[in-house]
Amino acid sequence: MAVSPVYKQGWTMDDVHWELFDPQKVDPAMLAAVKAAALVEYNAPDYVSYLKRIFHDSGPATLAAIEQWGEEESQHGRALGRWAEMADPDFKLEDAFIRFRKGYTPAHFQDTGAESVRGSRRGEMIARCVVESGTSSYYSAIRDATEEPVLQEIAGRIAADEYRHYKLFYDTLHAQAEPDLGFWKKLWIAVSRVRESDDDELAYAFYCANVPPEKETITPYKRSKYSKLSTSASMTIYHRKHIQKLVQMVVKVIGADPHGWLANTAEALLWRRLQAKVA
Ligand SMILES: [Fe+2]
Ligand SMILES: [Fe+2]
Repeated sequence: MAVSPVYKQGWTMDDVHWELFDPQKVDPAMLAAVKAAALVEYNAPDYVSYLKRIFHDSGPATLAAIEQWGEEESQHGRALGRWAEMADPDFKLEDAFIRFRKGYTPAHFQDTGAESVRGSRRGEMIARCVVESGTSSYYSAIRDATEEPVLQEIAGRIAADEYRHYKLFYDTLHAQAEPDLGFWKKLWIAVSRVRESDDDELAYAFYCANVPPEKETITPYKRSKYSKLSTSASMTIYHRKHIQKLVQMVVKVIGADPHGWLANTAEALLWRRLQAKVA
């Protein structure tokens, strides 16, 4: 069995072995999913400003960590975008991103308040950990599913970054002076963040990344349609071990046993739901 290389923090675009790109090994469904992921990742600067407002008085180390996090997320977007441009010369990351930005801005990014939409800093960190758990398992699944060497490398590098992001937000969660949240509150925040994955962000990114501007009039955006397409383009790549890891990471954040009944039940339910979606 091949052993995955260990990818350290702080890699740059120049570290990627672009010369190994093999167009024969590009899978069209995977390409469509990667284009959409590139747009979502590239949109990180808005999230950096939002998090910096929430943690404005948390000291320079926390603010620097948020900045660093945002730079890594943007680089994920650039790396995935460049790979997609190599695989499909008609795709242009910057152009697709402009369209995505025009049509998608969540309300909490327009606010200027210092209050998290999750109600507290701890709530915000739980929601962030859920997202990082999701991205960490998603890119691990891409790394394991693709046969294209450059995508394997990029997805491996990104998955390692996302896992470090999870740890950063997990530590930040526990460093808060705020009182701990009750178990049900934590569970509610985690579940609502998981449910938001069905919202416009992914569906609209999938649309902007895969429907060229000249086809917008004849192929208008429909949330349910593109949400479905986006799901089916990416869900088939998961293996049960990725889902298991994802659930364990989320369950740990809400303070439950990652190997206990909650984790086992949630993992079985999620796996069944996923199987139903790709059927
Ligand atoms: Fe990322
Ligand atoms: Fe991340």
